[in-house]
Amino acid sequence: MAFPATRLRRLRRTAGLRALVRETRLDLDAFVLPLFLAPADEPNDALPGMSRLSVESAVEKGRELERLGVRAVLLFGIPEAKDDEGSGAWHEDGIVHRGLRALRAECPGLVLLTDVCLCEYTSHGHCGVLDGEQVANDETLELLARTAVSHVEAGADAVAPSDMMDGRVAAIRAALDDAGAADTPIVAYAAKYASAFYGPFREAAGSAPSFGDRRGYQMDPANLREALRECELDLAEGADVLMVKPALPNLDVIRAVRERFDVPVAAYNVSGEYGMLRAAAERGWLDERQAVLESLTAIRRAGADLVISYWTEDLARWL
Ligand code: PBG
Repeated sequence: MAFPATRLRRLRRTAGLRALVRETRLDLDAFVLPLFLAPADEPNDALPGMSRLSVESAVEKGRELERLGVRAVLLFGIPEAKDDEGSGAWHEDGIVHRGLRALRAECPGLVLLTDVCLCEYTSHGHCGVLDGEQVANDETLELLARTAVSHVEAGADAVAPSDMMDGRVAAIRAALDDAGAADTPIVAYAAKYASAFYGPFREAAGSAPSFGDRRGYQMDPANLREALRECELDLAEGADVLMVKPALPNLDVIRAVRERFDVPVAAYNVSGEYGMLRAAAERGWLDERQAVLESLTAIRRAGADLVISYWTEDLARWL
């Protein structure tokens, strides 16, 4: 029955009524906070509020996060030194490994995810080893697998490959199984687009490519069907969770992945998405909290089960 019998405004009249019929809720359990580990504490101008943390400070942060009810962190490392191969990525005394051992011991309740990629560790800033000016796919796989195993040996609960090499999920799955880590899940950055929205992260991690760009391995933002093929292949190779990244420019992709596949779907609310709202809020153009809650709700409504977001700690304080 149409108007006047039907009046949708009836259920919008009070905050209590609106809460009763709300379809999508923000639940801290679904959120993951990225952390940047570094040899020493350093502010992070590109990502205000996301300082680079020494291992000691990361442990302090971990304890605070546990107190706030945050469930999970995603660790990135900024090493002392870089080389052509990115060997800091798998060195057992690498920055992420030291952080993992300390957090594992001091923050037993925190789920520790690690980003598996070489770009923060290579002198050229690409996500794999080079053959001339190309990133060599198959030669990179073994290094990624070695990195993933080293993370698990240092205490990671799950590994998240973000490099976009073909076949890396299979290579990592096989290496983890060989190393006795058959129980460790892989959170695959499956549909990762070559995006301008990673800018602040690359500045923060010092991982911008020194020549060229990442379009030879990350996806063209114009493609949706190809994203589904990426997901299908990653699943066939053994991925446990499929990720779409960035989140807000790709809500349609999140929805399509959610509808096609019956595995948990993650979305990465990336550094540029964070930076846009932070900058606008600083200028007084937006109400930060309202804008963030609306954005995060939209990502969940699109179909993301898990959300990786730099707002996770603020969210814990707001909820
Ligand atoms: C590493 C990696 C990147 C991000 C996550 N893992 C950078 C990139 O691919 O250039 C971006 C995260 C963000 O922007 O918040 N490959």
